[in-house]
Amino acid sequence: MILNSDTKKLVEGFLNEVVSIGINFKLQENVNKARVSSTDIGKIVTDLPTNGMSLIEILDEFKEHILPYCTNFSSAHFMGFPDSGNSAAALGGAVLSDFLQQNLINQSFCAPSATFVEIAVLQWLREAVGYKRTYPKDIWGVGGIITPGGTVSNAVGMMLARENKQAGTLENGVSSPSSFKVVVPKGIGHYSVKSAQMWIGCGHNLIEVETDNFRYDLDDLECKLKENKGEIMAVVAYAGDSRTMTVDNLDKVADLVHIIDSNIWLHADACHGFSLGFSSELRHKIKGIEKFDSISTDPHKVMMTPYTISALLVKDPENLKKITSLSDLIMQEEYAFGQITPFLGSKSWMSLKLWFMMKNFGKNGLDELITKRHYFAVELSSILKSNKNFMVLNDVEINSVAFFFTAGRKHSVAEINRINRGIHQRMLEEGKCHLHQFSIPDRGIFKKGEIVYPLRFMSGNPNTSKKDLHDMIEYVQTLGNELLLK
Ligand SMILES: Cc1ncc(COP(=O)(O)O)c(C=O)c1O
Repeated sequence: MILNSDTKKLVEGFLNEVVSIGINFKLQENVNKARVSSTDIGKIVTDLPTNGMSLIEILDEFKEHILPYCTNFSSAHFMGFPDSGNSAAALGGAVLSDFLQQNLINQSFCAPSATFVEIAVLQWLREAVGYKRTYPKDIWGVGGIITPGGTVSNAVGMMLARENKQAGTLENGVSSPSSFKVVVPKGIGHYSVKSAQMWIGCGHNLIEVETDNFRYDLDDLECKLKENKGEIMAVVAYAGDSRTMTVDNLDKVADLVHIIDSNIWLHADACHGFSLGFSSELRHKIKGIEKFDSISTDPHKVMMTPYTISALLVKDPENLKKITSLSDLIMQEEYAFGQITPFLGSKSWMSLKLWFMMKNFGKNGLDELITKRHYFAVELSSILKSNKNFMVLNDVEINSVAFFFTAGRKHSVAEINRINRGIHQRMLEEGKCHLHQFSIPDRGIFKKGEIVYPLRFMSGNPNTSKKDLHDMIEYVQTLGNELLLK
């Protein structure tokens, strides 16, 4: 069915039903109603029907064979992974952006006002991280781009680093990848930086620096910078690493790098931590981030905004000129974003949902949201620390708590891992509650340097209550005690 004035009523009825399926899904108690198994593939990967199905038939099939298996990030018991995407305003913006079909590659004929909305959102994000707000006369003054995720934002950050190391590599390629090294903290980085380095022709040339409590060991950083002087294109620091969400000593890292080699590009992966910039109380934790040349941010992780939206911010907007795409297919007009969005052509209006969300919260609402999330995680951390059955791995920096169930006993690392991996597995199977799990070198709780598998809580949902936290703790203890007996 095509939308036109004849079908208006039918389409409205269909879309009302779609919205109510979405709302009811988000409000359902469980994280998962059912688990999809490999034998279910045949119910979903079917032949394309020869004759088209009606909208009702499609919805019926969707409700029966697909929806029950979807993971509900909005369940109050979904506590492991950002974010619930529960902002009503953001949901409205997301729906509208699909209706309005603006294409952010060009401004004049495909995104006239959308382009300015995107610029406004980028300026709000710049302010949050302490970059200068700009009033751009053209695209070259904007100082940022919207991308579909932190992975692309990091990749663009690495391209900028490469051009900064040697002008013209976009055109000429890289002839000696080993002089385009990237420095990262060992064992806690996100894979996207390493992948980006390889995607952009600089090979696998990472320098991994030892860490101390999930931050750069500054002595080792200094050593490695000196040892590799002249061969480093970028130093990457995390404002919220993917596992414990620790914020690095951004100020000290920036100063150290500048003293040793001021030509090195500083990139902050602040996909999680940029959010602290909205909190008047917590902003100090990212002090120094404004010294970095580029910053990745992921509103879809921390701003109650549905997937996907990320932004790469660049301290000096002019730098984006170095990686521009010139083509007669992209309008060479004042504000065509397509000129400064590598890897991307047509681009949906991702910023509209964030524009709705940020307008709806305002500065005070954002401040309260981010501060509350932090203290909710702090509260869980202190509850777990006072319960002898648990060990907490990290100090809460943003909104996450990584912990182990130990039953108050001493265990080998292998046994701790067996129990905690078992708990996570049972959680996935039962679908009632969700915590995340990852591997990380132990900071010395069990045996320094050994790989451990904690459970990870993240407060990404304002609907999660203190009672939900207590229920989760009870549940983990029940599962853990059952596994202990095995
Ligand atoms: C610190 C960090 N950087 C980058 C990324 C990649 O972000 P995305 O999944 O939005 O591409 C993640 C994702 O988890 C992350 O935690």
